[in-house]
Amino acid sequence: MRKNIVAGNWKMNKTLQEGVALATELKEKLSNATPNCEVIIGTPFIHLATVSELLKDSVIKVAAENCADKESGAYTGEVSAAMVKSTGAQYCILGHSERRAYYHETFDILREKVKLALAHDLKPIFCIGEVKEEREANKQNEVVKAQLEGSVFNLSAEEFSNIVLGYEPVWAIGTGLTATPEQAQEIHAYIRGLVAEKYGKQIAEDCTILYGGSCNAKNAAGLFANPDIDGGLIGGASLKADDFKAIIDAF
Ligand code: PGA
Repeated sequence: MRKNIVAGNWKMNKTLQEGVALATELKEKLSNATPNCEVIIGTPFIHLATVSELLKDSVIKVAAENCADKESGAYTGEVSAAMVKSTGAQYCILGHSERRAYYHETFDILREKVKLALAHDLKPIFCIGEVKEEREANKQNEVVKAQLEGSVFNLSAEEFSNIVLGYEPVWAIGTGLTATPEQAQEIHAYIRGLVAEKYGKQIAEDCTILYGGSCNAKNAAGLFANPDIDGGLIGGASLKADDFKAIIDAF
């Protein structure tokens, strides 16, 4: 069964105390609610253990925003998938365009990260999406296809069924520009078609594909109303409990 998901991505925001305050506020706002979607918050590594503990009796699940491409050892400053898992987090955002662009994460590196996340029982939220020039040249389909082939289509069908995809056009992230619901639906349907070609119709039907890129309380309902848009990956609007809750309520 395909799951609808609203996932926050805090990025590099909030001190530990501020993060705890935000998670607490969100927990309270959702305490009497039965959201029509799964709710996840993606936090910096340092928040994971505290926030996971805080949210353990709530409907909110926790994601890391990254993990290392190595199992363990002499990799100063890195955080492994096993460490993320040990905090109580259940998901791991991987392949975010900011990681690809600023930290030079290649298809090969991401393939390793995805493999390690799955090996440690974390569900990857794997992000794909084109930059502005690629959209202008109408190359978005080939870009997302290469990203999928480069880092996740090596997985077995069973492994792939634990992946959530996030389509995030880079030109829409943090810019206030959103893909129109038609643009987003079109490429989400294309992505689902690629998954069907590779893994068959059932796995494609069950695959959650999130839209990300300036998704907010105003535009969420219009996006989520489309058959192939199964929720959102939310950056800026996940930093305020009211805004994030309003997006959850869009379902
Ligand atoms: P945004 O970020 O909602 O601030 O555009 C989305 C993301 O990068 O996941």
